[in-house]
Amino acid sequence: MGWNEQIIREFRENNGRVGGMFEGVPLVLITTAGARTGRPHTTPVVCLRDSDRVVVFGSNMGKDQHPDWYHNILGTAQVTMETGTAEGRVKSFSTRAVVLEGEERDQLWEQQCSLDPAFRAYQEKTARQIPVIALHPLDLSADPSRNRLIGEQLLAHHRDLRAELARLRAAIDPAKATPGPEPAAAAQLRAHCLAFCYGLQLHHTREDGAFTEFERVYPHLAPVITRLRAEHVVVEQGLKEFEDLLSGAGAAGEVESVRVELERVVAGLEQHFAYEEEQLLPALHGDVG
Ligand SMILES: [Fe+2]
Ligand SMILES: [Fe+2]
Repeated sequence: MGWNEQIIREFRENNGRVGGMFEGVPLVLITTAGARTGRPHTTPVVCLRDSDRVVVFGSNMGKDQHPDWYHNILGTAQVTMETGTAEGRVKSFSTRAVVLEGEERDQLWEQQCSLDPAFRAYQEKTARQIPVIALHPLDLSADPSRNRLIGEQLLAHHRDLRAELARLRAAIDPAKATPGPEPAAAAQLRAHCLAFCYGLQLHHTREDGAFTEFERVYPHLAPVITRLRAEHVVVEQGLKEFEDLLSGAGAAGEVESVRVELERVVAGLEQHFAYEEEQLLPALHGDVG
């Protein structure tokens, strides 16, 4: 397990607290979509609370390059944030990232440097200006027209994932599969599979964050959310095993094992999508019941 993974694990197991060099430092975990691959990328970052929003800093410990997550945010502002809570466990939140500028940026930067002088030292090490980013949590109680839009996005993402899965199934159809794929064909198959895996992982990560807000605003949906979260965990475990299988794929006869494993992983996925749409869309459309 790498250093980052250890911090993430400790964070999740200890309600957002991490020892060692991060002892007493306010941290959040942020998950962004990889700019090139779309793969979910989770990293711990120091944060500053500012009213309802959470402010983070692209210090990269004073290196001359912005951190990867900052580039990811410039591509897609949708960020999943995990934080410790008063309930004693880490919760995940759907947020929208805004890169701050001008006086607002400078003021929050100064505040952070006063609280933690290491940040001033980071800025002195590099010529680039360290970015300051505000994470705005999703608020489903604020704007009904926005909720409707979120419902439409959910449907659009499901449609894209269904289409991607159909393409993948066609690519590994046993009727068309050759007994021993050429290395180039195997690489292409792997790329197809990974694109689907990353897309689905990202979709579920973002939904897990949005579910926290669903639970707050639509308490009658609590049993539904519990079931959906549990289904996400099952799919996530399956996808990890599938990725492991793909990392070794490429030899003769492996298309069949990829096909079998894929079907195992996505069994029940269609029902999951349908149940989610059936249960969540009426709430988003204002039909709370
Ligand atoms: Fe889901
Ligand atoms: Fe979904």
